[in-house]
Amino acid sequence: MRLCSMRQLRNLLSSGLELAGALCYHEGRIQTCIRETERGETMALYAIGDLHLHFQTPLKARAQRKERVWKNHEEKFRRNCAEFLRDEDTLVLVGDHSWGHRLEECEDDLRYISDLPGQKVLLRGNHDMFWDASKTEQLNGLYAGTLFFLQNNFAAYQDYALVGTKGYTFEGPFYLNARGRIIGWDEKAEVHAGKLVERELGRLRSSFEAARAAGYRKYIMFLHYPPTSILEEESGFTAIAEEFGAEQVIYAHCHGESRFHDSIQGEKNGILYNLVSGDYRKWVPLKLLD
Ligand SMILES: [Fe+2]
Ligand SMILES: [Fe+2]
Repeated sequence: MRLCSMRQLRNLLSSGLELAGALCYHEGRIQTCIRETERGETMALYAIGDLHLHFQTPLKARAQRKERVWKNHEEKFRRNCAEFLRDEDTLVLVGDHSWGHRLEECEDDLRYISDLPGQKVLLRGNHDMFWDASKTEQLNGLYAGTLFFLQNNFAAYQDYALVGTKGYTFEGPFYLNARGRIIGWDEKAEVHAGKLVERELGRLRSSFEAARAAGYRKYIMFLHYPPTSILEEESGFTAIAEEFGAEQVIYAHCHGESRFHDSIQGEKNGILYNLVSGDYRKWVPLKLLD
């Protein structure tokens, strides 16, 4: 592994060398961590979300205590990673990493993640209280060479930019009639959600723009929240994905069977959408690219 500037990276890319394990981050300037590969060596990009680790903190979620799929889930996931991932692969963890609030309460959870095979790229989830979005560069400094925190920046995988942000959707409360039909919702909460969506759209755009400014034209887009609100088929997030020509949109947050179909899955307008929450995936990371 070595660090190089974007100018050096462009020279290397044009030299015809095969490169692997590229990671970029903003720290005043973009740095890129790359490795030259043996000819013919293969690598893969994987994703999963919602590990909800709790090595240092009390377990708060009822489902996580009761449902069979969550029993020893960290051990199941560790075994699956050992089976499917190699050190040259990249694993994107799509948010809700830890139940800890402060970074000191998440250190064991982050160590568990860093000990998994491959390069690890982390996205913010709504439960990741340890990660203040404005302090992402500090986290990237603290975990340099171990974990990469994706926020207002991008990571690189081969000639793809991995871009993303937490995202946001309106999740109610909805009011139902006796037949279970939606007849209204909390309009104040909807206005508040709209503001959060706008902020996240700005963060997503800045991630895409950082990647485009660095010369990338192929994108995989990651959101923690689903790309649309329940029952909707498009949003500002799907619009940005289409504007930049993202090939895939990967999201998590929807766990528990009743939420697995909250948003788009499969191909829509030329983009492949996939939910990768851990319980949905039964703790097997989804392979996105070879
Ligand atoms: Fe979650
Ligand atoms: Fe979540």
